[in-house]
Amino acid sequence: MSKIALIYGSDTGVTEEIANEIVSDWTLTDIEVIEVLNASKSDFERFDKIIIGLSTWYYGDLQSDWEDYFDEEFHEIDFTGRTIAFFGLGDQYGYGEYFIDGVGILAEVVRKNGGKIIGKWSTKDYDYEKSKAKIEGEELFYGLALDEDNEPEKTPERLKQWLSQIEEEFELK
Ligand SMILES: Cc1cc2nc3c(=O)[nH]c(=O)nc-3n(C[C@H](O)[C@H](O)[C@H](O)COP(=O)(O)O)c2cc1C
Repeated sequence: MSKIALIYGSDTGVTEEIANEIVSDWTLTDIEVIEVLNASKSDFERFDKIIIGLSTWYYGDLQSDWEDYFDEEFHEIDFTGRTIAFFGLGDQYGYGEYFIDGVGILAEVVRKNGGKIIGKWSTKDYDYEKSKAKIEGEELFYGLALDEDNEPEKTPERLKQWLSQIEEEFELK
């Protein structure tokens, strides 16, 4: 069995591309990639280590497949004993008041349902106004923020650093 699940949703393929990069960069363990479109509760509950990837759309909404799944059964997943890492795609200039909000929307449920969130990421290198993904009282997002619309050149280094961070926090190293 794979050790980690990577569950993602993507409207125009950007998050999907990052998911593929994570799989090709990762050498420490097997990853099973599942598009949320095809996911069910048991896919989350088969794993104790999960990476969740998503983009944000239309002024702070979840990516469309995540939105469907959120309404369907995301709330019912028991995250107790599970460790979750988020990465979110967004546009900090075009949608600066809603930057990667989707990460915050899902993280709230994961926390409420007993999950442990790792892979938190500094807000300092971004120029946005507001984000549901920002942890209150801290200079951290709940997960990695990537902005392929404005800063694609920063993505490889951000991704590399974050993968090294979560490898440690997932206790794979
Ligand atoms: C119409 C539209 C609405 C968007 N709304 C948001 C938003 O509210 N917050 C944000 O951070 N990014 C927003 N974005 C940026 C997307 O999240 C970004 O382009 C992302 O890379 C798309 O990834 P995907 O192809 O995996 O869905 C929006 C983009 C478009 C075209």
